[in-house]
Amino acid sequence: MKRFAHRLTLARLAGLTLLALAAWPSAGVAEPPGGAGGADLARRTMHLLRDHCIRCHNAKKNKGQLNLTIRALALIGGGEGPALIPGRATESRIIRYIQPGSDPHMPPKKQLGAEQIAALGQWIDTGAKWLPDELVIEAKSVDHAKLGRLPTGYQPVFALALSPDDKQLAAGHGNLVTVHNVAEKNKAPLAKLTGHRDVIQSIAWSADGNLLATGGFRKVLLWNTADWSSVGKISDLPGRVSAMTFTTDNATLITASNAPGQAGEIALWKTTTLGKRLNWQAHGGTIFDLAIAPDGKTLATAGADRLVRFWSLAKGEQVMQIEAHTAPVLSLAYKPDGALLASGGADKELKIWDTKTREQKTVVTGHPGNIAAIAWPAKNAELITASDDGALRLCSESGTRPGKTWAKAGDLLHCLDVTADGQLLYGGADNGRVYAWNRNGKITITLDPGKQ
Ligand code: HEC
Repeated sequence: MKRFAHRLTLARLAGLTLLALAAWPSAGVAEPPGGAGGADLARRTMHLLRDHCIRCHNAKKNKGQLNLTIRALALIGGGEGPALIPGRATESRIIRYIQPGSDPHMPPKKQLGAEQIAALGQWIDTGAKWLPDELVIEAKSVDHAKLGRLPTGYQPVFALALSPDDKQLAAGHGNLVTVHNVAEKNKAPLAKLTGHRDVIQSIAWSADGNLLATGGFRKVLLWNTADWSSVGKISDLPGRVSAMTFTTDNATLITASNAPGQAGEIALWKTTTLGKRLNWQAHGGTIFDLAIAPDGKTLATAGADRLVRFWSLAKGEQVMQIEAHTAPVLSLAYKPDGALLASGGADKELKIWDTKTREQKTVVTGHPGNIAAIAWPAKNAELITASDDGALRLCSESGTRPGKTWAKAGDLLHCLDVTADGQLLYGGADNGRVYAWNRNGKITITLDPGKQ
């Protein structure tokens, strides 16, 4: 039986509401930079940079050529120029890039809170006092062979996918792919796949189960699932490989990728040679999800530009588009009969569309945050969403509010997959764990590769 549920994943964008840039208190309320309050603000800011930025912006790992550990280097900035300009918060890149909806967005997979953004802004506006000692990260014992360039224990699960026979689950834990044996309880993982240096963003199985593709920053690795040997590599993609899927005939691998601030590109690769068959610019900005229609002919794509677009897979030509959401579209799932498509947005709305007429059939409001992933396991009217509060929600194609809210995972969810019979759902969380829910909405399994 074929499964048309959401089985890839998407990069998460945490922009909820667009905050005004000047969200922090005006100068009249601000503390003087030299006073005790200023030192306090500086300490808070240093801790914020330490906890959310430094692991990617230091001397060893200077993403975007930016090192934020030393004030002088932060002022020089990265490839694009100064990261901050003391006294001018709104013009400073570190403020611009942390706003909801910005592209590039920092930290890439998280949204800082309004209060944190306000504190950083106020700190820059009042002179950006630097406290180097407060920036030091305590040494942690990290297995570098496992973690590659990821210096901390941050191993979010941005991507997971079940094998077509539902016996194996491949999940990205940071930059490591673990193939969990989910057919037997408490069994050790079947494989740990190394080779990505950055966080795994997307994972896809071929429909025959013979190949697994894993996508990270600019790179896709292809694995033979019989012995987990590496059988191919695509490099030099424009940026993060934010979504991926195989066509139902196994002949083609579809990737979505974009350079920061650039158009999202779809590329079709021959599975046998990894030669590029076709590519085109599909969205203005990141493509967060892909879904192939059950007839195998149409590809639906979800964009940061708030659009859902439909393409003919044979020619790469646009068939139609929907102005779907008021914020980036993060997730897609076809109803298994192909008549309807569900889209989830950073506007916290789930929408259901008639795929023939483009008409909006239902809007489901009441999710607490991003709808990061959707599964539509059966031909009936029930679908399941994964959201920021870690809960799954049972929705229906006609109800305007979520029906049941299921048990909450320990952290926000990025991705979701479901078994062919619809009885088990697997969600990947920001805390590095994978959770499984049964149809009563209870969490029955927690997979934590750190403990295996
Ligand atoms: C997980 C790694 C990671 C974290 C954490 C991170 N960044 Fe970045 N940052 C990047 C990458 C990668 C780039 C390059 C642009 C891109 O690919 O999106 C970048 C680029 C930047 C740039 C632009 C540099 C230039 O001039 O090209 C700024 C400014 C920046 N980050 C600020 C921050 C701030 C502030 C934080 C913390 C709130 C942060 N980053 C956290 C990975 C990270």
